[in-house]
Amino acid sequence: MPIISFVGSKGGSLKTACALSVSAEAARRGLRVTLVDCDPQSSATRSLPRRVNLADNLDNSLAPQETVLDPLSAEGVSVEFEEITAGGGSLRLFRGGEMLAQAAREQVVRHVQRAASGADLVIVDTAPYLTGTFAPMLAADLVIIPTEPTGDALRSVPQYVQAVRAVAPNTPYRILLTKTVDVERTTKDAPALIDAQFPGVRLQASIPSSARGKESNAHLVPTVFYAIDKRDRAVRTAYIALTTELLRLTGLALGTAQLLPVHADDIATPQHEATMETALDTPPPAAPASSQADLGEMAP
Ligand SMILES: Nc1ncnc2c1ncn2[C@@H]1O[C@H](COP(=O)(O)OP(=O)(O)OP(=O)(O)O)[C@@H](O)[C@H]1O
Ligand SMILES: [Mg+2]
Repeated sequence: MPIISFVGSKGGSLKTACALSVSAEAARRGLRVTLVDCDPQSSATRSLPRRVNLADNLDNSLAPQETVLDPLSAEGVSVEFEEITAGGGSLRLFRGGEMLAQAAREQVVRHVQRAASGADLVIVDTAPYLTGTFAPMLAADLVIIPTEPTGDALRSVPQYVQAVRAVAPNTPYRILLTKTVDVERTTKDAPALIDAQFPGVRLQASIPSSARGKESNAHLVPTVFYAIDKRDRAVRTAYIALTTELLRLTGLALGTAQLLPVHADDIATPQHEATMETALDTPPPAAPASSQADLGEMAP
């Protein structure tokens, strides 16, 4: 089962929002997904709704103080959404907690690998500081570096790219633009800036900025389940396209023929159709080895 880690240091680059929404969307399409919260701040754990499986969690709650118990020995809890269970998929959460900040790298890698057992897909949310991401990088089959298109945020990307190359030289990585605003210069310029420095690793999907995104985190529901106003709908569509692209990159879209189609009302959105078509027309990504070789030539 592929393990995808979301890493990056610039606070608020949507690591947690992406981890939650991709997990939820992949589960909605019928996959058994495990979300591993490797951030000692436990944002993903705190963001999910409290409807968890009674068998796993007798008091039927994920109280914040529980997240500081030893997450390295804690088993996952099932998180239930009607959208997910109706499609036959499942979402299990392995909680984050302060122990993770002190745990040795090997312990955290083992924690992620143990969480992966029985899952079709594993998504790892990480801490917003570099050292906290080494273990999730090591455990990953694919590393995603979300970044806003601003200068400050883009300047923090190279250290994460260098870290992946150093810590997990054979692991492919991709850069994801988040909080984009179509009319803004930074959003227009960012793709070329990234492509010039790191050719071939920018994801086609990007996550637009949205007021609803903020609100949905506050309401403890993955953004992907919201489609109320136009901006919000664009964000939801973007998460669906991102999930499709990531499943494709990890080979899951090809291996799991039973994947449910996306919501009919999403398919009807012209912008979404374009995104889906582009994703489907794109040839499979280069094998990790050659993609790293290309990037290796650029390395100082
Ligand atoms: N599409 C969106 N557009 C703008 N803001 C959003 C969007 N989705 C979520 N947000 C808000 O952005 C903030 C940061 O999101 P998130 O917590 O996912 O980032 P993060 O990278 O995990 O942050 P940290 O570095 O603290 O872990 C949150 O307050 C969230 O409500
Ligand atoms: Mg976070």
